[in-house]
Amino acid sequence: MKNNKLLKALSIVSVSVLSLGMFAGCGTSNSTSEVTSNEVDTNQEEVKDNNTNVKDDNVIIMGTNAEFEPFEYRENGMDIVGFDVEIAEKVAEKMGKELVIEDMAFDSLIMALNSDKIDFIAAGMTATDERRTQVDFSESYFHSKQMIIVKADDTSITTADDLVGKNVGVQLGTTGDLFVSATEGIASVAQFQTGTQAVMDLKNGKVDAVVIDAEPAKKMTEGQSDLKLLDAPFVEEEYAIAVKKGNDEVLQAINETLTDIQANGTYDEIYAKYFGTAE
Ligand code: ARG
Repeated sequence: MKNNKLLKALSIVSVSVLSLGMFAGCGTSNSTSEVTSNEVDTNQEEVKDNNTNVKDDNVIIMGTNAEFEPFEYRENGMDIVGFDVEIAEKVAEKMGKELVIEDMAFDSLIMALNSDKIDFIAAGMTATDERRTQVDFSESYFHSKQMIIVKADDTSITTADDLVGKNVGVQLGTTGDLFVSATEGIASVAQFQTGTQAVMDLKNGKVDAVVIDAEPAKKMTEGQSDLKLLDAPFVEEEYAIAVKKGNDEVLQAINETLTDIQANGTYDEIYAKYFGTAE
């Protein structure tokens, strides 16, 4: 009885503390935004000005997700290198600027581009119609498609249709993710920040398959006797470099660079470096 009363009292106290807290919270935020709104606005403008000032004209910023060997990855866990990086270097050279690379989650790239944090996206990004509504794409520079990775001893999956009823791992926000998430009957879609994490869960038996772009899939399965790569039929994809809609200056520099390096053999050299000699 005594205990019950105490409990009741305690709960009343905690409820009122909670609601006090809520009111206090509301009061504070309201008054802050009302009283100091002018100040806040001015500050924001200052920050913006600073950013544009700080943004060095001699620098061009590539946004990427360096988890996508051989297109962009960290060499020995340090410097970001790869096929896309070398192409971006050529774009920077053409523009007479220094290349700076910003590494971020793949699914934040378009937002970063459209809020001017980066000048272009070079990330093995497939030029899809959906994305074309948000960004402008360069000419395509690489032909690709999705592949399926399964355990070496798996005989139940040989095509994309066999993914029905399975647990499938993907990299969040990629075309592989879009495909798997739109496929009816998939038991579950596990969306990882990186393809490597997805493959780790495949090895651990937490997912039955991983759907990811062909070249990174080859890298991830290289020398892994417990995994196999299925060259199942998939829609073909074209990689392109993205700029903010209307940024014709950078778009033109990218397209001119792509034309130049294809004509003068540089593209083939970079290709050979990352993919071996053309088949
Ligand atoms: N090509 C796929 C896409 O556009 C995957 C790209 C992932 N790239 C990366 N750097 N993680 O969605």
